[in-house]
Amino acid sequence: MNLIEVTGGRPLQGEIRVQGAKNSVLPILAATILSGGVCEIQRCPRLSDVDSAIRILRYLGCDVHWEAETLVVDTTVLQRCDIPDAMMREMRSSVIFLGAILARIGQVDMSYPGGCELGPRPIDFHLSALRSLGADITENAGVLHCDTTGLQGTEIVLSLPSVGATENVILAACGAEGTTVLHNAAREPEIADLQKFLCLCGAEVRGAGSSTVVIEGKRPLHGCRHQVIADRIAAATYLAAGAAAGGEICLQGVDYRHLSTVTTALSEAGCRIRSDNHVITLYSDGHLRAISPIRTSPYPGFPTDAQAVLMAALLKSTGTTVFVENIFENRYRHVAELTRMGADIRIEGRVAVVCGVEKLRGTSVQATDLRGGAALVVAGLQAEGVTQVGNIHHIERGYNDFVENLTHLGAEIRRTDT
Ligand code: EPZ
Repeated sequence: MNLIEVTGGRPLQGEIRVQGAKNSVLPILAATILSGGVCEIQRCPRLSDVDSAIRILRYLGCDVHWEAETLVVDTTVLQRCDIPDAMMREMRSSVIFLGAILARIGQVDMSYPGGCELGPRPIDFHLSALRSLGADITENAGVLHCDTTGLQGTEIVLSLPSVGATENVILAACGAEGTTVLHNAAREPEIADLQKFLCLCGAEVRGAGSSTVVIEGKRPLHGCRHQVIADRIAAATYLAAGAAAGGEICLQGVDYRHLSTVTTALSEAGCRIRSDNHVITLYSDGHLRAISPIRTSPYPGFPTDAQAVLMAALLKSTGTTVFVENIFENRYRHVAELTRMGADIRIEGRVAVVCGVEKLRGTSVQATDLRGGAALVVAGLQAEGVTQVGNIHHIERGYNDFVENLTHLGAEIRRTDT
């Protein structure tokens, strides 16, 4: 079984380039289906979630191959319009392929993505929006069958700014006759990156990044070359690691505006942060103080994906920090593992109260989900002794060269196969 072993107590020092964004590249890989040509996705991170998306594209009949950090996807020929259950189970966000296949072919069969470690992952907003566009969707024994005699542009209002539903609507609307106006759209930077990719393919999409996105459907599309934005959550993770361990780290290639709520929180905790253009530098003496309550919310609020790693950074801070997790129902599964390391955290529903402790002790812990797993490593960097993190397949879903990057920054960390 693969483990990550980290020995705490070493400050971090140095510079790394931040990987391409997982949550940008996944919808963009689905969007390549619309292009019907060859797309070169530059700065594509090597992640198991990307491997899952590649398997789906190849299953559908696309040709996909790597050229260094660029993933070349040829969707000229599609031979299938279904995604098998096993592939859907590999990655819940495969539902993002729904809108793209429907727009390209007019029919999709896929199993219901179902819940995951974070709790139920309903797709009701996705389905109701696609039905508004003219999709006929039946659900039978866990299988979704979608088809359409032709998608028609319309006005859609999301009851909450769901990232995945926003992406599915944009992709489906590209294949609809006329104009689609999406209200209460998610505003995450990854939506703007998807829009940029689609416009490079010849689509007419505007407004991404705001709450209203307008899509003019049925534009003739083609392949393109696109560089994915930096992963703001991976960047937040490395900043949390530097804050926790102490030292001075520099992140290259990331837009600081995409994680300003995280840098603000770390500054309040006592870190000195400089950011300009696409570089963020963090200095920490390793002695943090508690901060005002952190409430996760849709972008531009504090990202739910950074909740666990910020919590880990604050485990030895002076004082008490309150977290309120407003996005997912079950996003404190890392807390039990952090408690095994000596953390003092109490949970009441969506609220977690983190009281700083003098020390953490290395022990064996199990990753419960992607960001919770990363949080265990952040905790291990500041613990006495060795922390062994198991179930690291969760971490490898979203972090490219995580151990290598932390080693480069001076951490005593290694991947072992026991
Ligand atoms: C995306 O998930 C991200 N995943 C998540 O990142 C991220 O945490 C989340 O957005 C919120 O920012 C990808 O982009 C691949 P949502 P998504 O639809 O699209 C509820 C990570 O760690 N909801 O914005 O699934 C839902 O249950 C991952 O990188 C419905 O009720 O998130 C949740 O409570 C984890 N019905 C809330 O909305 C729906 O039809 C937000 O979900 C859809 C969502």
